[in-house]
Amino acid sequence: MKVGIVGCGQLSRMLALAGWPMGFRFSFLADPDEPVRCIEGLGSVVRLDTTMTARDVYGGLGNPDVITVERESVNVPLLRQLKVFCPVYPDPDIVWAIQNRHREKTLVAGLGIPLSPWEVFREREPVQEAITRIGGLPVVIKSTEEGYDGHNQWIIDSRETLEAFEKEREKLLQGPAAKDPHEWIVEQKIAFDREISVIGARSPDGNILIYTPGENSHNQGILVHSVIPAPDLSGPLHNKARDYIYRLLQETGYVGVLAVECFVAGNELLVNELAPRVHNSGHWTIDGAATSQFENHLRAITSLPLGNTAHQGGVIGMVNLLGQKHSDDSQAPDQLITQGTYLHWYNKTSRPGRKLGHLNILAENEEELSGSFKYLQEAQATIP
Ligand SMILES: Nc1ncnc2c1ncn2[C@@H]1O[C@H](COP(=O)(O)OP(=O)(O)O)[C@@H](O)[C@H]1O
Ligand SMILES: [Mg+2]
Repeated sequence: MKVGIVGCGQLSRMLALAGWPMGFRFSFLADPDEPVRCIEGLGSVVRLDTTMTARDVYGGLGNPDVITVERESVNVPLLRQLKVFCPVYPDPDIVWAIQNRHREKTLVAGLGIPLSPWEVFREREPVQEAITRIGGLPVVIKSTEEGYDGHNQWIIDSRETLEAFEKEREKLLQGPAAKDPHEWIVEQKIAFDREISVIGARSPDGNILIYTPGENSHNQGILVHSVIPAPDLSGPLHNKARDYIYRLLQETGYVGVLAVECFVAGNELLVNELAPRVHNSGHWTIDGAATSQFENHLRAITSLPLGNTAHQGGVIGMVNLLGQKHSDDSQAPDQLITQGTYLHWYNKTSRPGRKLGHLNILAENEEELSGSFKYLQEAQATIP
């Protein structure tokens, strides 16, 4: 089986690492200046340039049997053209819907799945009215596209923070138009009890398997760690999470792995955002589930039977290893490996806050896991 992947980051790396033992071969499509260190040695790379036709891209990728994506920020018209040559999963239409927060929320709301109250505004449209309509401050403003790890987001909880946003907006609108038209979502800032995510896979024949939901902790919009199963998640909330992802997969005819991030607020479960791909909060599945999210994505997009998603006993933790400083040194911190910890290193250059790798921890119980987390927080400082 030959798989072409759009993108050359750590998710592509882990997809390829999951596929190699099954005899899969990979090729990767890189943007003009995208770093490719993560996928070195795992397949050939085609660099996209503006003169290339879809046929050139397909040929350059070595005529793959199927094409998939590792990120939502992709050239959807190109993906649609590639469908002439081979299946593209998930379908470019669902990637298009999810890559824009306005379309994404419209999709989720259309299925009757609850979200934080939201409004959209464009260009110089007044934001105050939108804020009033969703119940007043505090709110979170997010650009509808190009947001990740908390980028392009503003927490507005006072007149001062709103003025600061307005200044930034004006600068953006006067600057060279990066994207037309400028559009933002404003949503009620939810005083959530915690954040969870649920990941599932659907194959073309409609088979769906769902992973155990995990609890996620973020710092400044970046995932710091996950705990699986989400501690003490009530039965009804657990069922809601399964129901949301099941409906999203089934009713969109989705093929591949989908991730759904949610806020838990009392007995309510609100969807925060979707990812049409394998997800950071599912990295634990490499060591903690019978079949990883990466393998199940590959199985789904190649019409192979999905593998068992059950988590392996005990409690599983996933800790992101974030860069501490600028450095070309990508030496794996193998001192972090212990009997119960499993290191995954992405071969990147280090930048402050950049995800360089992660560690999966298999523990007997939550107490043992929190001991490991403490040890790891100290060890973080030794990351390049
Ligand atoms: N409406 C909201 N209310 C409260 N916190 C929010 C809200 N939206 C986002 N956040 C916080 O910011 C984090 C990142 O926002 P998210 O929409 O997931 O964007 P990203 O694409 O950067 O992951 C969330 O995980 C959550 O901690
Ligand atoms: Mg998110």
